[in-house]
Amino acid sequence: MIQGWTKSDWRAKPRVQMPDYPDQGALKVAETQLAKYPPLVFAGEARKLKKQLAMAAEGKAFLLQGGDCAESFSEFSADNIRDTFRVMLQMAVVLTYGAKVPVIKVGRMAGQFAKPRSAGTEVIGGVELPSYRGDIINGFDFDATSRLPDPQRMLQAYTQSAASLNLLRAFSTGGFADIHRVHSWTLGFAEHDKAERYRELSNRIADALDFMTAAGVNADTAHTLSTVEFYTSHEALLLEYEEALCRIDSLTGQPVAGSGHMIWIGDRTRQPDGAHVEFCKGVLNPIGLKCGPSTTAEDLKILMAKLNPLNEPGRLTLIARFGAGKVGDHLPRLIKTVKSEGANVLWSCDSMHGNTIKAASGYKTRPFESVLREVREFFEIHKAEGTIPGGVHFEMTGKDVTECTGGLRAVKDEDLSDRYHTACDPRLNASQSLELAFLVAEELTSRREENRRIAL
Ligand code: PEP
Ligand code: CO
Repeated sequence: MIQGWTKSDWRAKPRVQMPDYPDQGALKVAETQLAKYPPLVFAGEARKLKKQLAMAAEGKAFLLQGGDCAESFSEFSADNIRDTFRVMLQMAVVLTYGAKVPVIKVGRMAGQFAKPRSAGTEVIGGVELPSYRGDIINGFDFDATSRLPDPQRMLQAYTQSAASLNLLRAFSTGGFADIHRVHSWTLGFAEHDKAERYRELSNRIADALDFMTAAGVNADTAHTLSTVEFYTSHEALLLEYEEALCRIDSLTGQPVAGSGHMIWIGDRTRQPDGAHVEFCKGVLNPIGLKCGPSTTAEDLKILMAKLNPLNEPGRLTLIARFGAGKVGDHLPRLIKTVKSEGANVLWSCDSMHGNTIKAASGYKTRPFESVLREVREFFEIHKAEGTIPGGVHFEMTGKDVTECTGGLRAVKDEDLSDRYHTACDPRLNASQSLELAFLVAEELTSRREENRRIAL
């Protein structure tokens, strides 16, 4: 615990990417209301996740973090939650088989509402309005009223998060997540005529499950086959919301962010002396830190010291997001910094945010090939440095959207307009997400086999 820290200390620090609420009275009312509501997560869960992430940092587990770029009020439905949860479970089974370690499942769900933007305003047809900053802050519609920051939106985001989390908890333990069922969906995917490459791995998993059943290991004898642990995460961008949901853990007396199990600091809000770092340093949750090309060694040193002063394993996940072709320019120097500081960190790879391009059609998109290439480069560099690539971070949905190009169903530039539904950045669709899991599993398998050869 950081002595003397309070949950409102961030207010005295420079802040970026946060709204200026025009009605401060209304803001106070919303904050007071939110502060009375129950937290969404329990501190013990955040501590448990931290322990699991510590395992991933050692290569004894693997982190899969994924979900929407931005959750939205209009897309909120049981089907959407179920579909994203389902594809994450499918990916986790495939990755578990590849990595031969437990896969920690963390959704960008039940709280991922606030967005940093590269420009403060947006101009359409000569009209300039404030940028959309996520449904927790203002509205997507391009009119002046909708773009005004409205603090009541925090209450709606809280309610939606609570309902989402409730459903996720029910799915996790109520039978939906049974591994046999999850894998039967994947077998369906691998039957696609272009999925031949994935059929063998998929069949091997099915064989392993059949073998376990024959040996008497089934949902009745091993509850881990029929239930999963699922965690939530989001960018801790809107600090009024985070502060209002900050609570004291009754067991340890430490402050905990009650808004989600894991929170992260974005690439645009990681100023070492800024408000976001100030808030995150004081809560006990696992913290993610996005590291883009502009992350300097000097800043990283300060950030690691501030965010993890006790060098606690599992506390800090560095989420590298450089872009395909650029990992080699940046990751080695940051790995060197981590090594020289003797810092305990988990390295994860967000291969989405460095690979956004504008398609000829005008849509923001991400080519599947670049997303995959960045993950491969991330693995390659960790191998060369003798460090551990412990996780991946994707923007994805269980829906059949057309937002990223490529994949076995070959979404093309001209298809993007068909089902482009994201409230912010382009997401991998269900098929692209699962395909990526297969390809990452292949990488993990070959790394494991090579390590075994070296060990012999
Ligand atoms: C995000 O994860 O949606 C995001 C904005 O990422 P970054 O901070 O890495 O740009
Ligand atoms: Co995004």
